Amino acid sequence: MFQNTLEYAKKQDAEDKLAQFRNKFNIPKNQNGQELIYLCGNSLGLQPKITSEYIQEELDAWAKLGVDGHTEGKHPWMPYHEFLTENMAKIVGAKPSEVVVMNSLTTNLHLMMVSFYRPTKTKFKIVVESDAFPSDKYAVESQLKFHNMDPKEGLILWKPRKGEELCRIEDLEEIMATQGEEIALLMIGSPNYYTGQAFPLKQITELGHKYSCMVGFDLAHGAGNIQPNLHDSGADFAVWCTYKYLNSGPGSLGSCFVHERHANNPNLNRFAGWWGHNKKTRFNMRYNFEPIEGAEGWQLSNPPILSMAAIRASLDTFADAGFENLRKKSEQLTGYLEFLLDEMKNDAINVITPRKPSERGCQLSIQLKNADKKLYDQLTKEGVISDWREPDVIRVAPTPLYNSFEDVYRFSEKLKSILAQDSI
Ligand SMILES: Cc1ncc(COP(=O)(O)O)c(C=O)c1O
Repeated sequence: MFQNTLEYAKKQDAEDKLAQFRNKFNIPKNQNGQELIYLCGNSLGLQPKITSEYIQEELDAWAKLGVDGHTEGKHPWMPYHEFLTENMAKIVGAKPSEVVVMNSLTTNLHLMMVSFYRPTKTKFKIVVESDAFPSDKYAVESQLKFHNMDPKEGLILWKPRKGEELCRIEDLEEIMATQGEEIALLMIGSPNYYTGQAFPLKQITELGHKYSCMVGFDLAHGAGNIQPNLHDSGADFAVWCTYKYLNSGPGSLGSCFVHERHANNPNLNRFAGWWGHNKKTRFNMRYNFEPIEGAEGWQLSNPPILSMAAIRASLDTFADAGFENLRKKSEQLTGYLEFLLDEMKNDAINVITPRKPSERGCQLSIQLKNADKKLYDQLTKEGVISDWREPDVIRVAPTPLYNSFEDVYRFSEKLKSILAQDSI
């Protein structure tokens, strides 16, 4: 059904109801003022044009109101995080009470493990996928050490089989069948940052719960990309960032999901701070900590409003587009990219991301056999912003909010011509 021509790509863009959203973003340009082919939303999403207005609104409120901005103005700062909750909850398929925007991803992961990784002498192991993002590995290893466990003994890697790139669910089942009684936590990143493999969250959660393990997900590459349906998955917790597919700016705040069954459990340990305390009595400055019900009860500090303003701008853009529409377009865009790569009929190209749309988001991880970083450098020189992972993988992520079929076509043409050069 797809066609390998520029005319076809342009026709797809002309018929795309979401195409107008590209104009709502600042697309980086080269020195000649031409737009770059930006396929790096998996690393840093682009800036919506309304972001500066949303931030300016808060700068103005601060200038005009000073401290009174906490309670006055169009969007008072005291409840500011609440303005983000409903839209964020929709994006991850959660109830609003299960979601809160706060801190950054790794910090939230630690906070979640304080509550949901409660090892005993016999049940203490943690499972992560073998190619988990390094920060996740550092976090779980340091939690093991914090509880006086040896990571060599306590960390189980869910690995692809020899000669394969992707993790098989049967192998996780096998890990659980043999070591489930010793495992306290499954902590899986989905989609995996390197391969782009999206995992079946509900199936993994049910598997973990069958062995009385807690189950949490790192959705850094999931939020705003796939629909994780967190509430229905039954996961105990999840964490994600907002600077990738959620287009909220470098180092912007992360977000956190805590399933409602944990909303008001007094037996759960947590690291507490005043922003998690009952809103009605927070300013009475009483000493007994009384957590807000739900995910908000895990907040520590009063949050940075300027970063939250950027998140609000981005979430409003998502709400305008509709997540289901975006996902539909995303499958088409990535499907088109896959088609064009297949059309090259080049044995040096191996797409390691799953073929099934239900098992991936928008990213394709393209292994280029015998290539080195020169190829990526050449692509960059020719105006393609992608990302290189040693030893030989280029990750490209056409995102449905601001990428076009033409972007995908032009990328494939550039890759084809670079691969045809002898020097690469
Ligand atoms: C999968 C994954 N986990 C964790 C992180 C770390 O996030 P942060 O620096 O916000 O803690 C990243 C960052 O890119 C990531 O991709």
